Amino acid sequence: MPCSAFSIGNKWDDLIPQVDECLQPFRLSVSTLQSVSTRLKKDMIRGLGKHTHHRAPVKMLPTFVRATPDGTEKGDFLALDLGGTNFRVLHVRILEDEQRVVKMDSQICAIPQEIMLGHGEKLFDHIAACLAEFLDSHELKGQTLPLGFTFSFPCEQLDIDKSVLIRWTKGFNCSGVEGEDVVRLLREAIHRRGDYDIGSVAMVNDTVGTMMSCGYRDQSCEIGMIIGTGTNACYMEEMRNVKRVEGEDGRMCINTEWGGFGDDGSLRDIQTDFDLVVDKTSLNPGIHTYEKMISGMYLGEIARLVLVKLTEDKLLFDGQVSDALQTPGRFETRFISEIEDTGLENTQRILTELDLNWSLGDVRLVWLVCDTISTRSAQLCAAALATIANRIRNNRGLDHLKTTVGVDGTVFKKHPNFSQQLQATVRLLAPRCDITFLVSEDGSGKGAAMVTAVAQRLALQPVVFEKLLLEAWGPFDLLVALW
Ligand code: BGC
Repeated sequence: MPCSAFSIGNKWDDLIPQVDECLQPFRLSVSTLQSVSTRLKKDMIRGLGKHTHHRAPVKMLPTFVRATPDGTEKGDFLALDLGGTNFRVLHVRILEDEQRVVKMDSQICAIPQEIMLGHGEKLFDHIAACLAEFLDSHELKGQTLPLGFTFSFPCEQLDIDKSVLIRWTKGFNCSGVEGEDVVRLLREAIHRRGDYDIGSVAMVNDTVGTMMSCGYRDQSCEIGMIIGTGTNACYMEEMRNVKRVEGEDGRMCINTEWGGFGDDGSLRDIQTDFDLVVDKTSLNPGIHTYEKMISGMYLGEIARLVLVKLTEDKLLFDGQVSDALQTPGRFETRFISEIEDTGLENTQRILTELDLNWSLGDVRLVWLVCDTISTRSAQLCAAALATIANRIRNNRGLDHLKTTVGVDGTVFKKHPNFSQQLQATVRLLAPRCDITFLVSEDGSGKGAAMVTAVAQRLALQPVVFEKLLLEAWGPFDLLVALW
């Protein structure tokens, strides 16, 4: 009987054994989370190593960003932001006197699924067309503005304007782009049109953009984290540990690509049967295992599979699965946030929209399923963040670390308890780190403009200085100053 499946009180009290059995694999003990963190720590070292990198699931990609803004950056920039569900174009102005980054205008362009899964040339033509429309409507077409391109996929960065896509993640799978320089593909698409041009380009991952834009507000921001459609983090690593890049001094921002953690099977013990199905039916089976347990692209689908199983076992909805509940992707991740928000009305509305015949007991059990899945996501994310914070503390030989994380992403921002749960778990796993969370507004767009501005400032500095920089840091490091 659905009503006897669960009664609210202590959330685990009175669960009938079949429900408990179904949800138990999602509950992670502190010692399991500690073990996950230890595994990630090892994988991060593999990713940084010269000879271990190519087989490492956590890629630890050098970004060649060694500096935050120094406050003298200024001017107008364009920013492109590709990586979530939508593509955004922004016009950003950096005001030197007020030390502020101002978003002048922005426009969202939807990317139809056939483009997300079609040929790469079509994707870049679409991006170039959206940009043209934006420039037209804001009378910017005559200007050749520098452009910051936030491209939120794993890329091997060869220079500030040369970035090779390693693989697609999330909802994208365009042919002919993996292994190619994304900036070249963008420039070629703009040239095919021939009606406008762009200035210098700086490529950034969204985590780096987030860290940079928060860094403008808080100098101790040295971690950038995204928990949205996908998940990932970057942080400032000691150069002596970045074995794939010449040089021992100073620090460099590393894009961890922590979403790939577990791709070598190292997390098999904590993957549930539902995770395995989500992976198998995804666009990229076997890739980004950790991301598939944490991020917004997948949480709703995990919840849907659990709800279907509980219904088939006659523990929900009188055993009646609706067509809607049976449709992959129909139970959206935003439902989890809405259901866990105060009151049961949201749940009742969502279940009605999904053509389900619910009882009060069902409503409560659905809430518990959502809570279980989002709690695991927050805890796993915390385990990864704690690993980074502990690493920074150890790197610097500190007894205590005080640091700031710039955060963005719908899961973190929209879910009612996610950030609280994440912070509580980080405190347990990194007790000697005092972490402040700074929520970024438009971080990836503004951050990309900021990276471009720093690059431009350095490029404009006297040739002698530039030459010195090149000698000191090698050809890839035009984006250099003092961290
Ligand atoms: C990508 C990362 C990105 C993250 C958040 C992941 O799927 O691989 O590069 O930072 O999503 O957008």
